Amino acid sequence: MDRVRIGIIGLGIMGNLYTKIYSAHPLAEVVAVCSLRQEQVDEIRSRYGVRDGYVDYRKMLERKDLDAVVVATPDRHHFAPTRAALESGKHVLVEKPFMMSVSEADALIRLSQRVGKFIQVSFNHRWLSAYQQAKQTIQSGQIGVPLAGYARKNDTLYVATDYISWAGETTSAWFLSSHDIDLMRWWVESEPVEARALGRKEVLVARGIPTYDVIQAQVKFASGAFVTFESAWVYPNTFPSIVDSFMEVIGTAGHLHMDRKCESLEVSTNEKFSYPKGFLTAEIYGRLRGAFPSCLEDFLFAIRENTQPHVTAIDGRQVTAALEAIHRSLETGAVEAVAPLPKEFGELHASC
Ligand SMILES: NC(=O)c1ccc[n+]([C@@H]2O[C@H](COP(=O)([O-])OP(=O)(O)OC[C@H]3O[C@@H](n4cnc5c(N)ncnc54)[C@H](O)[C@@H]3O)[C@@H](O)[C@H]2O)c1
Repeated sequence: MDRVRIGIIGLGIMGNLYTKIYSAHPLAEVVAVCSLRQEQVDEIRSRYGVRDGYVDYRKMLERKDLDAVVVATPDRHHFAPTRAALESGKHVLVEKPFMMSVSEADALIRLSQRVGKFIQVSFNHRWLSAYQQAKQTIQSGQIGVPLAGYARKNDTLYVATDYISWAGETTSAWFLSSHDIDLMRWWVESEPVEARALGRKEVLVARGIPTYDVIQAQVKFASGAFVTFESAWVYPNTFPSIVDSFMEVIGTAGHLHMDRKCESLEVSTNEKFSYPKGFLTAEIYGRLRGAFPSCLEDFLFAIRENTQPHVTAIDGRQVTAALEAIHRSLETGAVEAVAPLPKEFGELHASC
């Protein structure tokens, strides 16, 4: 295979980035893009020199000259384009959260196995060097056996009010903790089995956005480890970064702390004080580099080398199952069981 021929569905903040990265990559060719709005399609096509554009992804998927499809639609709209892409014989790179229900996730895993095409879920934090080092440190036994953990991803209000237009259709946990749940199950090499969660709805509801301001969920893993996942969308916009991210693992012989509130750089000007982000994407000598482009590049390698991606639909499904239990617990106030992975899907953690 010369270059991987890619179609991109969803051309918002993320779809723009996918098109930018893949259209500059020597192993990829962005053949077509698709969004609901014609003017967005036209703008992205002319910005990155993409040959064709569509407002209906089903039309785009009729093309025989696509090897793979990116699904970068809002959280609640991942299922139909992913299913259609697999049915048309394309590999899929889908944004997180993989799906918002276990039944959808399981149906897609079965479909991908049936058609022999794979799904990579865009948990791009796995490509952050500090998180890879954390994985290696835990795996080598340096902190002993993981006992407990804590993960916080809290955004400024701006994210729910301006950055995305569909905050009311999802929650901070689906949007933010999905990354952290994936990281924790990867690090502790164990699967979530039950969850209990509390949430508050005050600030965003008052602004007409029907979703939680903050969610805290305590998740128990099969190994006995337990982790608190916190996500919020109500930090004041004066906070010096769009997201405050902190992760901790406590083991029998040590601990890890990973603080990404400030990703090294601190800037003060007469207007504001800020912590600019640069670990996921940073423009270096005219190209985007960082964890996110590396995640996209590994999808190309998986296709070219015909190997399973590093982060699969099974990983996405396990995160969805934990989040589904968390959201059930938000409604019931009870401890809720996490739907176990069907045995037919095979071994977990084989590729850790
Ligand atoms: N991995 C990460 O770090 C990260 C960061 C931010 C967002 N995300 C995820 O990426 C996804 C997209 O987020 P975004 O911020 O780019 O959203 P966005 O609102 O900016 O863009 C969504 C795009 O999808 C298009 N769309 C919606 N339904 C469609 C359909 N049926 N067919 C074709 N196009 C359709 C819209 O027209 C729009 O172009 C979300 O699931 C989000 O959670 C991931």
